[in-house]
Amino acid sequence: MAKSIDVVVVGATGAVGQVMLKVLEERRFPVGRLRLVASARSAGRVVEALGQRVTLEVASPEVFSPGGLALFSAGAGTSQTWCPVAAERGALAVDNSSAWRMDPSVPLVVPEVNSARITPRGIIANPNCSTIQMLVALKPLHDAAGLEQVVVSTYQAISGKGARALEEFELQRAADARGETPNHAVLPGVLSQNLLTDWKHEDSGWAEEELKMIQESRKILELPALRVTPTCVRVPVPNGHSEAVWARFSRPIGRDEALALLGAAPGISLDPRVGPGLHPQPRSFSGRDDVAVGRVRVDPSDPHALAFWVVGDNLRKGAATNAVQIAEHAFGVR
Ligand SMILES: NC(=O)c1ccc[n+]([C@@H]2O[C@H](COP(=O)([O-])OP(=O)(O)OC[C@H]3O[C@@H](n4cnc5c(N)ncnc54)[C@H](OP(=O)(O)O)[C@@H]3O)[C@@H](O)[C@H]2O)c1
Repeated sequence: MAKSIDVVVVGATGAVGQVMLKVLEERRFPVGRLRLVASARSAGRVVEALGQRVTLEVASPEVFSPGGLALFSAGAGTSQTWCPVAAERGALAVDNSSAWRMDPSVPLVVPEVNSARITPRGIIANPNCSTIQMLVALKPLHDAAGLEQVVVSTYQAISGKGARALEEFELQRAADARGETPNHAVLPGVLSQNLLTDWKHEDSGWAEEELKMIQESRKILELPALRVTPTCVRVPVPNGHSEAVWARFSRPIGRDEALALLGAAPGISLDPRVGPGLHPQPRSFSGRDDVAVGRVRVDPSDPHALAFWVVGDNLRKGAATNAVQIAEHAFGVR
């Protein structure tokens, strides 16, 4: 008989949680009993998901089945409290928040990069969305030529800040269209017709998101001294992060070799075209599970370095798809 796995989605009503349910269905994950957890605000509401009618509930130890899967996307506080409970009850907890990513005992996994770190039980952390798509692209180049340094600028979509930020952005756009001054409460300013750096900042000037890209890249690639310099920016794009990456390797690497490596790598859709508008774009890559790489160029001032452009759906490969792929490996179901 086909294996069936009890699944609980914690944060099921959120931007990532909703996509998580879609991805489980699309990839035909063998879901047994499905339970959906949200905050007390949503508990008691009945929703349709994966062909089942499910009542939203608050977190409790009973929602985690021994041998089951718990997908967390309800913020770091909820994950801090409930991932250990899920693991103690014998479930695999795959966590989308930042709560466990840098815990030395918790694997931080992008399946295309370090699937060997996946364990069948316990807690596995899903990296930050910007880190995931960058590392999918860097991995085949690193394997061939030894990555030494990365400088990256991100162009991050609003959905990365959650469902409420998207709603606020639409209100801001509507206010702009009426000639009124847009308000903001979820975002730290007006994003309509604008760019923002909206993450928490340290006194050093670094944004939390930038530090995550540095620390998580080093952990996943197992290169503790890797030089990584990110600048993270929120752009008025609803969904799909873009990144301009400059990467230096231990030896020269030509465009043809880079294209061959990227074209053969898992999880990458390579766009080798050259010309105005002929590059991966968030508008066309929103809704895709792979990562698009294009605009591959050798740095004219450094033959060891490449510049390229990476686009990924932050809610899918940057969160839900990566988490479900981890579960597929862990349960051996794909
Ligand atoms: N958006 C992205 O691209 C992205 C990418 C990678 C990782 N993440 C991470 O994933 C997590 C969720 O992000 P999101 O964008 O989906 O946020 P979101 O749209 O704001 O959704 C948050 C979800 O958490 C639920 N929740 C809030 N408090 C809870 C509690 N005490 N107990 C149980 N559930 C609770 C909410 O339920 P209610 O509807 O009842 O409030 C909702 O389902 C965050 O940790 C985020 O950093 C997001």
